[in-house]
Amino acid sequence: NKTRLSGFKPTGHLHLGNLLGALRPLAAAQHDHDSIALIADLHALTVEHDPRTVRALTREQATVMLAAGVDPARTAIVVQSQVPEHTELHYLLECVTSHGEAARMIQFRERSAGGGPVRLSLLTYPVLMAADILLHDVRAVPVGDDQRQHLELARTVATRFNARYGETFVVPEAVRPESAARIMDLADPRAKMGKSGAVGAGRIGLLDPPEVVRRTIARAVTDTVGVRHDLDAQPGVTNLLEILAACTGAPPGPLGSYAALKREVTGAVEAALAPIRARHAELAADPGYVDAVLADGAARVRDTARATIRRAREAIGLLG
Ligand code: TYM
Repeated sequence: NKTRLSGFKPTGHLHLGNLLGALRPLAAAQHDHDSIALIADLHALTVEHDPRTVRALTREQATVMLAAGVDPARTAIVVQSQVPEHTELHYLLECVTSHGEAARMIQFRERSAGGGPVRLSLLTYPVLMAADILLHDVRAVPVGDDQRQHLELARTVATRFNARYGETFVVPEAVRPESAARIMDLADPRAKMGKSGAVGAGRIGLLDPPEVVRRTIARAVTDTVGVRHDLDAQPGVTNLLEILAACTGAPPGPLGSYAALKREVTGAVEAALAPIRARHAELAADPGYVDAVLADGAARVRDTARATIRRAREAIGLLG
């Protein structure tokens, strides 16, 4: 019964990659594991943002999580900024992380490559992410492939702190989802499906209406090779097969044409999204309930968070 933590950044609407790679595994594991679902609103401030949008997306993500089967009785749904110990630990961890380690992160290099002003918080982003994990004595962190390097940094920093200042943190392990660790963009299947990014055409939002879902899949990039599963030669088709398998939980049967494959995928995605959409509409009508769930989530992690901070302050040399 190891504690698990899954994190989500409210920079956009949750999409099919988030559902298949993170939310569904979380909902499936919450019966056997103490679980935390973290909405990392502070991480959303590391890039240009609209304050109202971040606030709205934070509530929306909580609501979509509940709609997708995250059970607040089993999983503490926590908004990062509502547990201020995250930022306190962030600073202490910055003191055991080198500038070079942060600057080497692939996501930092990609996101800072544009040439515009880079927020200092974008550089230290993975240190805050390490704090998210280490604060809660988490043993396992299910993440998609895009977050593996950040998780490695969290392990390095925890190990270093323990070695230098004495046993303080649980060193977490990455858990890779059995499937769907990297759902790709339907219009550009060599890029991962992401919340932001230029191609809106290849992303399926969890609250997209059925007509939009159907159109997005109908327009998905394939090729002329025929239905097979060759990742290098057929990234688009491989991605559709991956989505189909993840949605249905079974390998696809024989499929003749791309039109047939897309029909299957549309049906499977629609079957996954329809109940989320319906439940989201019910929950959105009662924002007081969602706020209460978030207050309860913060309250449930408070004792562990305070105890971790106390250990870390003591170990690193601060007065009690
Ligand atoms: P974020 O918000 O980008 O993604 C949330 C979760 O969804 C997974 N994911 C995907 N899985 C499969 N296919 C995709 N196309 C896809 N896109 C995203 C991610 O791997 C992740 O599991 N920095 C994190 C948020 C975070 C966090 C944490 C995660 C903050 N603190 C602590 C774990 C632990 C992020 O931006 O995730």
